[in-house]
Amino acid sequence: MEKTEKRIAVACDHAGNGMKDALIAYLREKGYLVKDYGCDGTASVDYPEYAHLVCRAIQENEADCGILICGTGIGMSMAANKHRGIRAALCENEFSAEMTRRHNDANVLCLGARVLEIDKAKVLTDLFLTTAYEGGRHDARLALLRKLDEER
Ligand code: RB5
Repeated sequence: MEKTEKRIAVACDHAGNGMKDALIAYLREKGYLVKDYGCDGTASVDYPEYAHLVCRAIQENEADCGILICGTGIGMSMAANKHRGIRAALCENEFSAEMTRRHNDANVLCLGARVLEIDKAKVLTDLFLTTAYEGGRHDARLALLRKLDEER
C-alpha cells in the first residue's frame, strides 16, 4: 500500500453516487485519508449543496483537495469554482488531469459519471493526486486568479 497522509474530501450528486463509492474504496485501499460528504444514494439531490461541503472542507483546512462527481462533472465544476481559493478542474482525459495539477495547481477534480468509465476515472484520479504543481511562470497566473477571487 502507498503511504500518504493526503486528506481528500469527496462528494457527488445522485448521478455520481456509484462512481463516488467505487473511487472512495479505491482511494482508501491506497492509503489516502478520505472523507465522504455524500450524497448517500440515488434519490435526486442538488449538486451545488455537495460541491459546497467539499469546498468548505478545503477552505477550512480539513482537506487538502477534493473530488466532485455529477453526471457530466460540469455542474460540480461550476459550483466549486464559485468558492474562494478553489481551483476546480473538470477532466475527461489523462492530459487534462496531469496538466491541471502541473499548471493550474487545481485543488478539486471534477468527474462526470455519465461520461467516464470507472477505470478511466481511477486513472484520472491517480494522475490528479500524484502530479506536482510546477510553479515558476504559473505562480503569476495563480496570483491573478487569487486577485479575481478577492475582487468579486
Ligand atoms: C443530474 O441529472 C445532472 O444534471 C447532474 O448530475 C450534472 O450532470 C449537472 O451538471
